[in-house]
Amino acid sequence: MKIVSIIGARPNFIKSIAVSREIRKEFEEILIHTGQHYDYEMSDLFFEELRIPEPDYHLGIGSGMQGEQVGKMLIAIEAVLLKEEPDLALVYGDTNSTLGGALAAAKHNIPVAHVEAGLRSFDRNMPEEINRVLTDHISNLLFCPTQVTVDNLAKEGITEGVCLVGDVMADTLEYNKEIAEKRSKILEELGLQDKGYLVATVHRQSNTDNRENLKNIIGAFCELDCPIVFAAHPRTVKYMKQYGFCKKLSKNIRLIKPPGYMDMLKLMSHARKILTDSGGIQKEAYMLKVPCITLRENTEWVETVRDGWNVLVGPDRARIIKMAREFEPVSKQGDIFGRGAAEKITRCLKEVKAG
Ligand code: UD1
Repeated sequence: MKIVSIIGARPNFIKSIAVSREIRKEFEEILIHTGQHYDYEMSDLFFEELRIPEPDYHLGIGSGMQGEQVGKMLIAIEAVLLKEEPDLALVYGDTNSTLGGALAAAKHNIPVAHVEAGLRSFDRNMPEEINRVLTDHISNLLFCPTQVTVDNLAKEGITEGVCLVGDVMADTLEYNKEIAEKRSKILEELGLQDKGYLVATVHRQSNTDNRENLKNIIGAFCELDCPIVFAAHPRTVKYMKQYGFCKKLSKNIRLIKPPGYMDMLKLMSHARKILTDSGGIQKEAYMLKVPCITLRENTEWVETVRDGWNVLVGPDRARIIKMAREFEPVSKQGDIFGRGAAEKITRCLKEVKAG
């Protein structure tokens, strides 16, 4: 079986690592990088550090308006699919590269497998939510990370081809935790003490492209006494400069470029708390047993909130400050994300091939 995997943005890369490794033991994999992320820190660094196989095709799409970006991807991915004639297209998560890949394949009746299917924020203002819903509805195989995601699909009438496999990021995190601990020198470089700082990331369109929301978030960070390592996405820095926030940062904030996987893992492992609007980081915070304060009004990872390890604060200055100071998880963790997702996905694909 020939599988074309389509990736293009940082979270796609991280989700694909374990799956690529497993499926290559059984099948032929052709890797397409759309080029949605292109800065060294957002792309090449991950390929180098995590030894992701060299893409067979690099489409160099880059940034653009939502429709423009997906449109360019459709055209370029279609050409590769016509040339390679794969038996299956594999897509990951909820980025524009996910939708571009799924749609290009579905239009040519190439079966689509979606890794991390069934997630919903129920907020259609998020470009990612549109990508999730559309991708799930044109997928033939839906690899779900949790029971909640299986139930979400059932509510939309999707019950066929659904496999509960667990989370593909869990094994990658577990595998690399000790390696990051030894290899990364980021704490020394930044002069940080174990549990003596917070880690923050902000990149959601609703938080960055809206002056008021970004002002509230950065304003809250500036009021906290604790050191904050602010790992800023390029789009966030662009807006911070545009709004004139960079000059007004207080001394507790350490604004750094997006770190690689190992440095980020180490930073998160030793943080007192994590403040983020990223989906993946909410999950990783839970896996690392670090309390998470989510700078959004909703989340797809509702189990982390239910378990008491994640709290939703939105772009609300007072709530961010209060929770950064006071939030402490009270309950023990359950086993939300499982183990061995990549192997289960490969097993499912083998069964499909045999059947
Ligand atoms: C994308 C995903 C989001 C994911 C995030 C992780 C979509 C709709 N969203 O958002 O779900 O959480 O990746 O990072 O696909 N930029 C650069 N260099 C880069 C990439 C982006 O400077 O290498 C800047 C550009 O100004 C660009 C902006 O970031 O316009 C947004 O990039 P884009 O890929 O459209 O979305 P992300 O915000 O990265």
